[in-house]
Amino acid sequence: MRIDILTVLPELIESPLNHSIIKRAQEKGIVEVLVHPLRDFASDKYKSVDDYAFGGGAGMVMSIEPVYKAITSLSKKRTYDEIIYTTPDGESFSQPMANELSLKTNIIILCGHYKGVDQRIRDHLVTREISIGDYVLSGGEMAAAIITDTIVRLIPGVISDETSALTDSFQDGLLAPPVYTRPAIFKGWKVPEVLLSGNPQKIDQWRFEQSIKQTKKRRPGMLSAEDLE
Ligand code: ADE
Repeated sequence: MRIDILTVLPELIESPLNHSIIKRAQEKGIVEVLVHPLRDFASDKYKSVDDYAFGGGAGMVMSIEPVYKAITSLSKKRTYDEIIYTTPDGESFSQPMANELSLKTNIIILCGHYKGVDQRIRDHLVTREISIGDYVLSGGEMAAAIITDTIVRLIPGVISDETSALTDSFQDGLLAPPVYTRPAIFKGWKVPEVLLSGNPQKIDQWRFEQSIKQTKKRRPGMLSAEDLE
């Protein structure tokens, strides 16, 4: 998979994608994540990427020309399955959406900034608009980093224990059960007995019950009326 990120602030996104699992995925050649400064596609001598809003009002608007140039130049070399725009008024990002995106080959993520992008970018160039939550960030870079991280860890071979990504919270419509590691007793606080029993069926049953319990308590909306009885 290849992910091309278009941004006015490349520094904001480079670091989160160059550590740990995502870094190793790139080193293993499973994924390529490239960050492109939009200013490289600006045509005036000031490298402008934004301008005043037509009709007035506070805040600058990201201009169409550098974005168009960047997308056209990338699209000459490969076909993109999705051109995503990160914006608080987009579709809510979720695990099922991440699963779906992890099956794609080439993705562009355009990070929103300022007051937003010229609407013609959204109307004619972008294929999908994604929000990571109902709050407003200073820019779309963190959102792009979160989307990239969530997608990349799902690609086979990225996480060494293949079942690990599948047992995450949300993957089976439930929150994950609690996990423990050594020591079995710390300051008198004990690990649940069943986890030390060595009985895989009992352990699976306990984990399932804990998942239901956690989900009921924290995210009842994820459960059906039947589950809630
Ligand atoms: N840009 C600013 N806020 C955002 C959000 N919540 N999701 C995606 N992009 C954003």
